[in-house]
Amino acid sequence: MTAPTPLIAGNWKMNGTAASLAEAKAVADGVGGSAARVAICPPATLIAQMNWQLKGTPVLVGGQDCHAEASGAFTGDVAAEQLADAGAKLVILGHSERRAGHRETDVLVAAKTLAALRAGLEPIVCVGETLAEREAGKALAVVTGQVRGSLPAELAGKAFAVAYEPVWAIGTGLTPTTPQIEEVHRAIRATLTEMFGAEGAAPPILYGGSVKPGNAAEILHAAEVGGALVGGASLKADDFLGIIRAL
Ligand code: PGA
Repeated sequence: MTAPTPLIAGNWKMNGTAASLAEAKAVADGVGGSAARVAICPPATLIAQMNWQLKGTPVLVGGQDCHAEASGAFTGDVAAEQLADAGAKLVILGHSERRAGHRETDVLVAAKTLAALRAGLEPIVCVGETLAEREAGKALAVVTGQVRGSLPAELAGKAFAVAYEPVWAIGTGLTPTTPQIEEVHRAIRATLTEMFGAEGAAPPILYGGSVKPGNAAEILHAAEVGGALVGGASLKADDFLGIIRAL
């Protein structure tokens, strides 16, 4: 089985207004020739505009979360179908900021992942241990448990990605060592193979957490790293392009 096509996705989180669309345009202008698939996941308010702006470019637009239901009385939520209608092709699910700040469980993340499939979106399902869990020697057990619990069997044969984002590395400037990243990515791959058989080799496993232009080459070339989920450094086109070009 050939290696999965790398995916480098920017997660703008709750940052950006219409004025920030110029950064997305600059990414699209500079991305030519990359071996990676490139995506930007802006706040839901910007998805439709960004999709129009990036039409005809290789840069994909994604959401950062979705509700499990297709429609209904869920004030403030956004359905996967609505993200797709606005032009999203992917959606980040189970980000640690959602797991911690909105009490999202593996069961809920799995339901949202099913919703993404229903709407034709490619899910990027996030997993990752806290510092306390790593220090207690539980990183691999926590992460593989999240993979088992958050990925429904219906993903078999579908396009999806897993993002390993150690909670302690997000927005902190701290990153795991390359052997630490490789150890977790190998464990995720083994779990995917256990769950999906030979098809478990297909999904890219992204690394996320303080990826910057200066550390991207080493991270992106580590074993079983199939791309990156980039937060802070995706907000400025120059930084994001620096990461994309490090591949
Ligand atoms: P960061 O965020 O790159 O700012 O650490 C990554 C993420 O949360 O996806």
